[in-house]
Amino acid sequence: MRFKDPKMLLTFGVLLIFEQVWSAPTEGDQSLVVSSTVPSEPKESVEKESKPVGTAPTVPQIYQMHVKSNISNRFAHTTVTSRVRNFADKAQEAVFSIVLPESGFISGFIMEINGKNYTAYVKEKEEAKRDYDKAVASGLGAAHVAVSARDSNRFTVSVNIEPEAKAAFYLTYEQLLKRQDSHYEQVINIHPGQPVKDLSVEVLIAESRKIVGLKAPPLRSGNEIGTDKPELDPRADITIVNDTAAVVTFTPNLERQKQLASVLGTKEENGLSGQFVVQYDVERDPSGGEVLIQDGYFVHFFAPTDLKPLPKQVVFVLDTSGSMWGQKIDQLKQAMLNILDQLNEQDTLNLVEFNSNTKVWNIDNTEESVWYPRKNSFYYYTENSDIQEKVVTLENTTFPPAYPANADNIKKAKEAISALKSDGSTAMFGGLQVGLRLVELARAQSDKIKRQPIIIFLTDGQPTDLSTEDIITKITELNSEAKKSAIFALSFGDGADKEFLQKLAIRNSGFSRHIYEAADASLQLQDFYRQISSPLLSDVTFKYEPSITSLTKTDFPIHFGGSEIVVAGFCGTGSPIPIIDGTGIYGPISLKPVVTTSISNTERLWAYMAINQLLEKKEASDSDKDKLKKQALDLALKYHFVTPVSSLVVVKPNDTSAVDTEEAKQGGEFSIQMYPIVMGSTLAPFLTTPFCFIPTVPTTDMDLILDSLPWLSGILDNGFIKTPKGSYKLGLNETISDIVTCPKTPLNQEGHCALLHECAEVHSSLETPSNFFDHFCILKNEFAGVCCPN
Ligand SMILES: *[C@@H]1O[C@H](CO)[C@@H](O)[C@H](O)[C@H]1NC(C)=O
Ligand SMILES: *[C@@H]1O[C@H](CO)[C@@H](O)[C@H](O)[C@H]1NC(C)=O
Ligand SMILES: *[C@@H]1O[C@H](CO)[C@@H](O)[C@H](O)[C@H]1NC(C)=O
Ligand SMILES: *[C@@H]1O[C@H](CO)[C@@H](O)[C@H](O)[C@H]1NC(C)=O
Ligand SMILES: *[C@@H]1O[C@H](CO)[C@@H](O)[C@H](O)[C@H]1NC(C)=O
Ligand SMILES: *[C@@H]1O[C@H](CO)[C@@H](O)[C@H](O)[C@H]1NC(C)=O
Repeated sequence: MRFKDPKMLLTFGVLLIFEQVWSAPTEGDQSLVVSSTVPSEPKESVEKESKPVGTAPTVPQIYQMHVKSNISNRFAHTTVTSRVRNFADKAQEAVFSIVLPESGFISGFIMEINGKNYTAYVKEKEEAKRDYDKAVASGLGAAHVAVSARDSNRFTVSVNIEPEAKAAFYLTYEQLLKRQDSHYEQVINIHPGQPVKDLSVEVLIAESRKIVGLKAPPLRSGNEIGTDKPELDPRADITIVNDTAAVVTFTPNLERQKQLASVLGTKEENGLSGQFVVQYDVERDPSGGEVLIQDGYFVHFFAPTDLKPLPKQVVFVLDTSGSMWGQKIDQLKQAMLNILDQLNEQDTLNLVEFNSNTKVWNIDNTEESVWYPRKNSFYYYTENSDIQEKVVTLENTTFPPAYPANADNIKKAKEAISALKSDGSTAMFGGLQVGLRLVELARAQSDKIKRQPIIIFLTDGQPTDLSTEDIITKITELNSEAKKSAIFALSFGDGADKEFLQKLAIRNSGFSRHIYEAADASLQLQDFYRQISSPLLSDVTFKYEPSITSLTKTDFPIHFGGSEIVVAGFCGTGSPIPIIDGTGIYGPISLKPVVTTSISNTERLWAYMAINQLLEKKEASDSDKDKLKKQALDLALKYHFVTPVSSLVVVKPNDTSAVDTEEAKQGGEFSIQMYPIVMGSTLAPFLTTPFCFIPTVPTTDMDLILDSLPWLSGILDNGFIKTPKGSYKLGLNETISDIVTCPKTPLNQEGHCALLHECAEVHSSLETPSNFFDHFCILKNEFAGVCCPN
């Protein structure tokens, strides 16, 4: 797991200093005014407005911010222009800070200072870093990153500006809009940090097919969903040029910016901070989609409208470990109640929860629910009170069946969900392997309907039964043996290992999503479920003539209603008409697209997709990482995209001082909630994550001891340990100072009897109940103890 300490990021060097800054401050302000470079902004009027008598403004003023987004065939090219001016009588730092969508690649950046343009270019990350280090070593500082909206990256550059001087920043980024819930969405982040006199956003849309459902919904904070407030209506100006072209503009004046800021919950003087959104869809070809060609490159948009959803077998594998306690499990329950209502009658469902062990709910009779032990064995008493170990396997365990999603079963499943409790550790492998077994069993059932298996796996933590690498390897292997279930992995909150879950999902025909720990978590879960609720086709393959090359991905395990498959490639003068094969509700089908000339360049779109897919493959790969990285880098350099493998460098015309604008990694949280580690327990060192959960989780100590002594769950019953000598309390709440001697410690030392949680040093020697029973002792006639070194 890799945590980025947000504090580190914030305190990381911030200044990009140009040499002239250090020249002696000039006396007469006016003599240096460079207003002539921006004739549209009369100096006097701005000065009057913004230079309060007596005090100088503490930050240079942004007097203009224009965002222009040009979308052609869902590929968006967005330029942000920001112009600032320093009204103070000493040099000041101007910060240009832009939040861009996670899917956006920066493709250009220019700084205009004192009428001179400094153009950035894209370099390999390590090389850029060397330039950057050199600049730092020679006394020139540089760039930093911080993130402030979900699923977004922040780009920040700071420049010192001389008194009365102006600067302008031009940033360009590009991205392919993704279709979700049957529309495309362009989200423009606006965070100037101050009210801006001339603020405008202009979105130009040009498509090959008719535009439908165009609108600009209420502004969003970017950190919460489902709170569309009518007061946040952007009052955007929507101009329909013709069937296939439109322009949407948003130009709030200072007054309106302040109003919106206060509704969005930010200080008025910090200006508008939120997201302006434009949504639309296009009219589609009902079957094979449309292929658009230009200059030898093509792109194929596929979203058939004539298909009925496939029936599905949904297996929910939910983490109910101790760390889910409190708000998280409540939000999970709330989301599940809603999700269960959305299942279709022909679907089936299973509820699996996992913590220290795995439980498959029998919704007909919850008493008959089946616990599967994580160590494939449990302990029981024989008639003469001996403890025996019983080995079980997935094959010889009888699990509850997949339940048809009829009204009666949905009601029972909801009761089961309401009864979920959080406790114990996080045996992820256990949960997943049982989930796969249920898919296998359902497939074998003699039911005529073939269902698409979908495993929805949710966790908020780290696995405690196997390493993440082993889980990926073993689950992928188990899943490939004729089961082929799509696994969708949800990481809930900061404690979850996003990279691991992403890899797991990608290798198992699914994808992963992050659920931010916030008031709207339950809505985020429902939002996610909507995306996968309607599988239309499985095993979709695009088959091309051999003359078609440089193809992006052509195999898709499942196509979901409301989304879109995009394939791009190089066709030269050939004709890229694929046969699209897939399996629908009535069996295998083949489809063909319609072909037209594109209204825009398709090569950059192709390059954007190719890089993204290479990077995704690299993340999921173990062996080809370097090769894939190299391929992605070559493309990124050729097309000038800033990606996780390339960086942007600003070099002054005459020398090497450079700026590395490191991109923030995916999915920044607005506020990462950090709690100090307050465990008050000798077991605290076992805790591996630097972020502790809420310190008051009542089950934490139990969690820790079960992590440390996994076999304990097999002989633990309601706080009592069953031993050959009878049942004794575990006594997690207790501290016992009585000195009771005992024969020998597990390491054969002299010892005294101590409660298990008070003697962590012997845990590693206690591998089975019988090890423990060999060193077992009794305290105060009621507590189970272990012989602990003096
Ligand atoms: C700097 O680049 C921007 C963006 O391309 C351009 O609009 C501007 O005129 C340029 N300024 C100078 C001084 O060349
Ligand atoms: C629609 O308007 C755009 C932009 O003005 C233009 O390029 C395009 O040719 C027009 N399309 C049609 C079908 O008139
Ligand atoms: C299950 O299978 C294992 C391994 O074959 C065996 O040791 C065990 O006794 C079986 N358990 C039951 C309950 O049949
Ligand atoms: C928008 O982008 C398209 C395709 O890249 C280009 O042809 C067009 O000129 C651009 N329009 C504007 C107004 O920038
Ligand atoms: C060019 O760079 C060198 C070395 O960093 C520096 O000493 C010199 O002043 C620079 N010249 C100009 C014109 O900025
Ligand atoms: C431990 O203490 C907590 C809080 O005081 C209490 O709720 C719980 O019942 C106690 N557990 C046992 C096993 O005594």
